[in-house]
Amino acid sequence: MIIVTGAAGQLGSDVCRILKEKNIPHRGIDKNDVDITSEKEVKAFFDYTDFDVLIHCAAYTAVDKAEEEKELCCAINAKGTENLAKICGEKNSAIIYISTDYVFSGEGEKPFEADDKKAPLSVYGKSKYEGERAVMRLCEKYFIVRTSWVFGEQDRNFIATMLRLSQTKNEINVVCDQIGSPTYSADLALLLTEMAQTEKYGVYHGTNEGYCSWYELAKKVFDYKKISVKVNPVTSEEYITPAKRPKNSRLSKKTLTDAGFSLLPPWENAVERYLDQK
Ligand SMILES: NC(=O)c1ccc[n+]([C@@H]2O[C@H](COP(=O)([O-])OP(=O)(O)OC[C@H]3O[C@@H](n4cnc5c(N)ncnc54)[C@H](OP(=O)(O)O)[C@@H]3O)[C@@H](O)[C@H]2O)c1
Repeated sequence: MIIVTGAAGQLGSDVCRILKEKNIPHRGIDKNDVDITSEKEVKAFFDYTDFDVLIHCAAYTAVDKAEEEKELCCAINAKGTENLAKICGEKNSAIIYISTDYVFSGEGEKPFEADDKKAPLSVYGKSKYEGERAVMRLCEKYFIVRTSWVFGEQDRNFIATMLRLSQTKNEINVVCDQIGSPTYSADLALLLTEMAQTEKYGVYHGTNEGYCSWYELAKKVFDYKKISVKVNPVTSEEYITPAKRPKNSRLSKKTLTDAGFSLLPPWENAVERYLDQK
């Protein structure tokens, strides 16, 4: 039996869909079922729920707003994760915790290895790293899977924003000096459901293959959809946001391939499949 948190979110909904397609017993839960920030609610729910694996997709994901809502962000990503990790530890169940490229500093140009030094630049990145530490401290059977630049069917993502903006603007400024890997939640969800059926615990990076800048991603979207809009490349210094973001978000897949898991398809292919549905 697999429990999925954040079941109403981008990634969690895809994980539940795939588990259903594979006929794997599961239950998706979201804020209406259990508020993960409440230790009491978490305990009450799991007192009556046994499970083998928890796929923890619930999170506070508003990266810029987190700079103002530090307490709420930490309550969900750090304390909420700790509450769940405690239960998994006590029940000796496995946890798959979804983390982020934002735990790294973004310095240099080399892909970050799974065990490289963490130096988050933002409140969100710090809160997710606290979540990682809680999982490592409280659970024996854990997978930590860091992903990046997620897009899925729910249209709460960069690609959907670009499509929306193109309806009212002829010109869009997009950051060209942050490099990372766009990741289709449907592809990542497939990897997570595969992991859940193994005991290959560890720290992994799970993203679509290849790297690009946000500018290149926007260009790809408009080229593929044949939308005529001028995209201007701008630097992070020219495009100020409340949260600082890493310039180098390249993530190495060494631990993933060493453990025998398949790499996800190239990001261009993932973007095309996503856009084909629009
Ligand atoms: N999106 C990205 O680009 C990205 C990049 C790197 C890593 N990640 C990580 O990937 C995972 C999945 O992200 P996503 O894009 O699927 O996020 P999402 O769409 O924002 O979904 C997160 C879900 O968690 C729920 N949630 C929030 N607070 C909760 C609480 N207190 N108790 C229970 N549930 C709560 C949300 O419900 P409400 O909507 O009702 O608040 C939402 O359904 C997260 O761990 C995230 O940190 C995401």
